[in-house]
Amino acid sequence: MAFQPQAPWEGRAYEAAVEARDSAHAPYSRFCVGAALVADGHVVRGMNLENRSFGATLCAERVAAAAAWSMGWRQWEGMAIAAEEAIVPCGICLQFLAEWAPDLPLLLINLADGTEQRRTVDEFLPYRFIGKRLIQ
Ligand code: THU
Repeated sequence: MAFQPQAPWEGRAYEAAVEARDSAHAPYSRFCVGAALVADGHVVRGMNLENRSFGATLCAERVAAAAAWSMGWRQWEGMAIAAEEAIVPCGICLQFLAEWAPDLPLLLINLADGTEQRRTVDEFLPYRFIGKRLIQ
């Protein structure tokens, strides 16, 4: 069945995440991920960018978030994430997104079976690092 958006931002984000995945640079894992963040009404794409120094790899979610931030688009409505299986964003990405948008809705697209899941950042990482002493 074709994708059924449940919020206005989801339709554009779904398509953009699937397209962004085609631009992934994943020669080492061959696991391609696409992300699309709706920020200030713009759809900002991200894709995983792997590096031969593996630890330097950037996930699709952080690429999209950094790109939106760099454009000055800081009102984030939701992020779609597409992969060939049901994935949950990694802990680093969830912590990164939570810095600005703990309630950000995430649309997780499983391209293998055509299903989606919806959760917020906070639902996936409720016990993240806060560091109260850092922000007093
Ligand atoms: N990856 C992402 O881009 N997002 C995730 O949420 C999980 C993992 C990437 C990192 C690496 O390039 C590949 O997927 C395999 O871990």
